[in-house]
Amino acid sequence: MRVAMIGTGYVGLVSGACFADFGHVVTCIDKDASKIERLKKGEIPIFEPGLEGLVERNVREGRLFFATEGAEAVKTADAVFIAVGTPSRRGDGHADLTYVYAAAEEIAGQIDGFTVVVTKSTVPVGTGDEIEAILKRVRPDGDFAVVSNPEFLREGAAINDFKRPDRVVIGTDDERAQRVMAELYRPLNLNESPLLFTGRRTSELIKYAANAFLAMKITFINEMADLCETLGADVQQVARGIGLDNRIGSKFLHAGPGYGGSCFPKDTLALVRTASDAGSPIRLVETTVQVNAARKKAMAGKVADAMAGQVKGKRIGILGLTFKPNTDDMRDAPSLDIVPALIEMGAQVQAFDPEGHEARQMLPGVDFKDGPYEVADGADALVIITEWDQFRALDLDRVKRLMRTPLVVDLRNIYRPAEIESRGFQYRGIGRG
Ligand code: UGA
Repeated sequence: MRVAMIGTGYVGLVSGACFADFGHVVTCIDKDASKIERLKKGEIPIFEPGLEGLVERNVREGRLFFATEGAEAVKTADAVFIAVGTPSRRGDGHADLTYVYAAAEEIAGQIDGFTVVVTKSTVPVGTGDEIEAILKRVRPDGDFAVVSNPEFLREGAAINDFKRPDRVVIGTDDERAQRVMAELYRPLNLNESPLLFTGRRTSELIKYAANAFLAMKITFINEMADLCETLGADVQQVARGIGLDNRIGSKFLHAGPGYGGSCFPKDTLALVRTASDAGSPIRLVETTVQVNAARKKAMAGKVADAMAGQVKGKRIGILGLTFKPNTDDMRDAPSLDIVPALIEMGAQVQAFDPEGHEARQMLPGVDFKDGPYEVADGADALVIITEWDQFRALDLDRVKRLMRTPLVVDLRNIYRPAEIESRGFQYRGIGRG
């Protein structure tokens, strides 16, 4: 089949490369000429394990193309995917659909023959109806169907998530469109990934409901962690104890400094706005948003507590700045709350992240180092904010020799308290009372 993918951000680029790897012919289109130039040269603008090789192979084998202008690809496409950004609108938290609607206008002028127009971007319920209205207005003669096909991939595990999904949700009542979508995803039959056909609005809501539920699950265990600290219990054992119940499940029960990233914060907020506008507020998600924001702010206080309030003039080493490991994404990362607050308290902060290069612009006043041991050097406290693998097996004796005070504040619980304490460290984790 022939696919046109509008937008080469995370979702567009990964989906485009994976569809090409399924054997389809895919053109990824983006207005950003320098990005397309780089992609044509095989340079990948984001850090995503495995993506570079996947793009390279599919370009070489003649199934994956990049272009700044989509007319030709859209004209011949069986399916055109809209995978442009939907950032939070400034001021009110609603999803900003400017790019989605602009893409729809453009596609409308280019389609030829029956074309399935698919939204992969995360869009509020009813956006598909609006896209359909735009297409009908611009092309009253057009033969098309508008489908919602949300993406559930995680940064850092995106290729595996795309190729081995728990499910694929396809929102359309149009039978021709259902057939095209089933054909596009046919390679997944091998893994027995279920294709779930629903109405379009239902599909749009499934995406938000999934992210909101996961954000709520994390927030639940984070509050449980606070309770564990007060009551003298261990949150990791609580997570295991409840997670083994299949009805609950063990995933997304790792307590930490609060969720971040380009999806959970934006999507929970957008869902809250949609629900309250519809007169059907979802208070659990409203509370999740508030609790998570407060948690990120409270983390600097936790570090200060571990330092017995002695932060002013002290040197604090930070390991990990991105919102999670295996990504270079800094969006809504907990570090963006924690680090400025520590600086505000008078600390000198030195930090290292393997991929979070953007942090250099986002966190003024930080002394950026080239590795974890450089960060430990002379520090009065070492704070683990992001659980990159390379921080899990540090040479602790070396770290201890380098630090001025051997204190580790582990906001991701990657070390075992007894073990690290036996090496002469003072240790503070999350929810281990
Ligand atoms: C999330 C969803 O997991 C994907 O299914 C979805 O497709 C994606 O959003 C999206 O809407 O595009 P992502 O933002 O890449 O994916 O990252 P996650 O792995 O979900 O992590 C989000 C945040 O939650 C991170 O800050 C992470 O550290 C935190 N988290 C996650 C925890 O604190 N504890 C956990 O147990 C899991």
